[in-house]
Amino acid sequence: MIAIGSDHGGYALKQAIMKHLESKGDKYTDFGTYSEASCDYPDYGRAVAKAVAAGEYQFGIIICGTGIGISITANKVPGIRAALCGDCFSAEATRLHNDANVLALGARVVGEGLACKIVDTFLDTPFSNDERHIRRISKIEP
Ligand code: RB5
Repeated sequence: MIAIGSDHGGYALKQAIMKHLESKGDKYTDFGTYSEASCDYPDYGRAVAKAVAAGEYQFGIIICGTGIGISITANKVPGIRAALCGDCFSAEATRLHNDANVLALGARVVGEGLACKIVDTFLDTPFSNDERHIRRISKIEP
């Protein structure tokens, strides 16, 4: 199950990603925003991050204009490893190496087609479970 959220800047891309998830039969909950009216990205980044950190969702997908503000927000929530990805290599590597549980996207940075490929790569790549990566991840949180 996936938690998805965006601000107004990410709203249109979020609609496209939800359609893409539906086409694959992936279940998700949309945490808003629900229109293109101007709003504040931390409200949506935090809502998704908290739901993932609580164990209610396996993964989160968060989108704002750049992906930066919303990923900074999500990474303030304990237990969240949010990765801002603009390419499939990074999406694969962050699952393999960082066991990232939230994918952040910049709607003004990546197009719809690439964003959907990044989503697929992120969701389909398992964590490596390598000892060195487990050790490094354990050193991230204070
Ligand atoms: C909104 O204009 C924009 O600041 C926001 O979507 C995001 O890019 C912030 O990091």
